[in-house]
Amino acid sequence: MFNCLRQRTSLLISALFLFSTPSLADCCRDQSATRDNPTAIGGRLYDKWWAELDLTAPSITHPAYPTTAKNSGATTWRCKECHGWDYAGAEGAYRKGSHFTGIKGISAYKGEDLARINALLTDTTHQYDRFLNKHALNLIATFVSEGQINMSNSIDLNSKKANGNAIIGQELYGEYCSRCHGDEGEDLNFGSKLKPEYLGPLARRNPWEVLHKIRNGHPGSKMGPKQMHSGNNMRRHHLDKVRMNEPMPAMIKKLTLKQQTDLLSYLQKLESE
Ligand code: HEC
Ligand code: HEC
Repeated sequence: MFNCLRQRTSLLISALFLFSTPSLADCCRDQSATRDNPTAIGGRLYDKWWAELDLTAPSITHPAYPTTAKNSGATTWRCKECHGWDYAGAEGAYRKGSHFTGIKGISAYKGEDLARINALLTDTTHQYDRFLNKHALNLIATFVSEGQINMSNSIDLNSKKANGNAIIGQELYGEYCSRCHGDEGEDLNFGSKLKPEYLGPLARRNPWEVLHKIRNGHPGSKMGPKQMHSGNNMRRHHLDKVRMNEPMPAMIKKLTLKQQTDLLSYLQKLESE
């Protein structure tokens, strides 16, 4: 997998000159995601597997998605849609509101055997072998077993406030995030021009999603041409700080959970609206 990353990068560079890369397909066709450790890749697949693997999103609604719930189509195939960003299902942030399904969380499978989780993901309820190969499924199983945390230790369920130290978080933000997201979190716009969304407001509205992404990264994220010019005032990212096509890193092994929570507390204080 890691060799594949290096191979892919150099192949992409040679692709610019040769326009044909037979071995690129050999290397990466097997849906292996190519970034950092397996648990974080699994976390991004849990978030939105087709974005991470560059696949077409399913057009049907997941057969296990309750007919009484409010969503439909591709989004119902995201693990987070039924089990939550906090892995707590109907007992967590999705206990009410537009994402409510009544389905339980996945914390009972923390530390579980990968084979048992794989069996679950391909059972008649889940049916993920319709879209994902064994390798991708195994990465998701690795996340379920090793990547989960109890988010209620970091985020208050009702007030949504993170209980970290924002002063320490500010330093971490400067070190790990600001060169892409900007000093106020406004250099990358996740919404549209008319309805922009920035890091601070997102961290206040959905701290569970942001903590999941701090740990695992954002699926398929890259500093592409659009991102390099996104954000407030169309500010340009400086190429001496950010590489073209650089993906968002995952902090799961880089920072402790305490530090990740400190970072979240700081994000919740970013001034932008
Ligand atoms: C459309 C809804 C839906 C989606 C999407 C979904 N699941 Fe599930 N999942 C369920 C249902 C329903 C159950 C069974 C819950 C029960 O037994 O009450 C379940 C059970 C589980 C369990 C066992 C929980 C327990 O304690 O018994 C795990 C682990 C799990 N799912 C992981 C995943 C993962 C990983 C994904 C994404 C690849 C995923 N699920 C996607 C509906 C979904
Ligand atoms: C190398 C650049 C880079 C770095 C460093 C980086 N990010 Fe990102 N981040 C991105 C890109 C690119 C996206 C996807 C934006 C898009 O889709 O346009 C993203 C998306 C996100 C999202 C998801 C927004 C959404 O739409 O759901 C969050 C949350 C986030 N980043 C937080 C952070 C935090 C916190 C840090 C520091 C630990 C960080 N990022 C570091 C590039 C970066």
